[in-house]
Amino acid sequence: MRSVTWIEDLARRADAVLPDYVSAYYHSNAGDGSCDREGIADWNAFRMRPSVLRDASAQSTATEVLGTPVAAPVLVAPMAQQVGARPEGEVLTARGAAKAGTLLGVSTNTGARFADIAAEGAPWWYQVYVARNRDATRILVERAAAAEAKALILTVDTTPLGREVPAIDPRNWPAGPRKNRTANLTEAELDRFGSDTDMALDLTPDTIGWLADVSGLPVLCKGVLTARDARRCVDAGAEGIIVSTHGGRRLGTSVTSAFALPEILAEVGSEVEVHVDSGIRGGAQAAAAIALGAKAVHVGRPVMWGLAADGADGVATVLGNYQAELVTTLRQLGIGSIRDLGPADVVARGAARV
Ligand code: FNR
Repeated sequence: MRSVTWIEDLARRADAVLPDYVSAYYHSNAGDGSCDREGIADWNAFRMRPSVLRDASAQSTATEVLGTPVAAPVLVAPMAQQVGARPEGEVLTARGAAKAGTLLGVSTNTGARFADIAAEGAPWWYQVYVARNRDATRILVERAAAAEAKALILTVDTTPLGREVPAIDPRNWPAGPRKNRTANLTEAELDRFGSDTDMALDLTPDTIGWLADVSGLPVLCKGVLTARDARRCVDAGAEGIIVSTHGGRRLGTSVTSAFALPEILAEVGSEVEVHVDSGIRGGAQAAAAIALGAKAVHVGRPVMWGLAADGADGVATVLGNYQAELVTTLRQLGIGSIRDLGPADVVARGAARV
C-alpha cells in the first residue's frame, strides 16, 4: 500500500502558508530521519485480504475508546505549538474533531485554554509532560479534569527532542507562541515555577498511579515500543498503551511503531486498549493497524497540515478522508463493522503462505 498523495499535497499547501521555522518544526524528526521515513514505509508494507460474496451493503466505523463513542477509531494525536498553524490553535482542531465525530489529544504545550477547547464539544484527552515541579503538573491535571478531559495521556518517551535544531526550537521562535509554555497556568504561576515547568527526567512507573490519583482519570502511556515496557506500564495501573515513535521525532534508530505493535498486543492486548501512531498516512494504513489489533490510531502531522491550510474545516476533511478510506477498505473486505476487522484480514507484504 502506498500512502495516498492527498496528504503530500496538503503538506505542500501548509508549507506554503507557514513561516519556514514553523513548517520546519512540524516536519522535524530525529537522527537521520530514517525512523520517520521507515515508520511510514512499514505501514505501507501491509496487504489486506479481500473477501467476496459477503453482504457489503453497509459499513460502520463507529466504535468506543475507553468508553467514549467515536465515529471512527481515528483520533487526533496531541501536538504542541498549534497556535503556530493558526492563532486559535487547538480550538480549531477541536472544532474539526467535533465535526468528524472524534476525539483529540491536547498537548501540555498548548497555547489554547482548556475551557475554550472543551467548549467545541469534542471529547478530549490531556497529554501530560510531567514538570520538574510536580505542583505545576498537579495544577494542570486538575484543571484539565475540571474542563472534562476524559483521560490522561502520559508521554513516556520524555527526553528533549532527538535532534533539537536551535533554529526550529519553538522556544526560539520570534515572540514564539507563549514561549513553548502552556496557556493553562497563570502568568504568576509561570513566574513562580520558572524553568521548573521543564520536563522531569526522573519518571518511574509510580508516576502513573500518582496521575490517576490526582485526576481521577484513566491514564494511557504514550511512546511505548517494547512488550517489556508495556507490561511495566500496565502493572503500574495504565489503562491504555499508545505505541508511538513520536512521529520519528525521538530516536532516529528506534524500531518503528508497526514493528513494535504486534509484540505489545501479544503482551497486554487482552488487558488494556492498545492504540498506535506515527506514520499512519491514510485510512488504508489505519485499517491495517486496527486489523492487527489496535483499538484506534492517532494522526499527527496530517491534522496539523489540515489545520494550517484550511483551519477547522481542514482538520475535519483530513479525519473524514481517513474515515472514508476505512469504509472503502471494509467494503472490499466484505466486513460490515470495524469491530469485526481482525488479524485474518491482513498480512505483511511478501509473507509466504503455506
Ligand atoms: C508532536 N507530538 C507530541 N506528542 C506528545 O506527546 N506531546 C507533544 O507535545 C507533541 N508535540 C508534537 C508536535 C508536533 C509538531 C508533532 C509533529 C508531533 C507527537 C504526536 O503526538 C504523534 O506521536 C506523532 O505526530 C505521530 O506521528 P505522525 O502522525 O505525525 O507521523
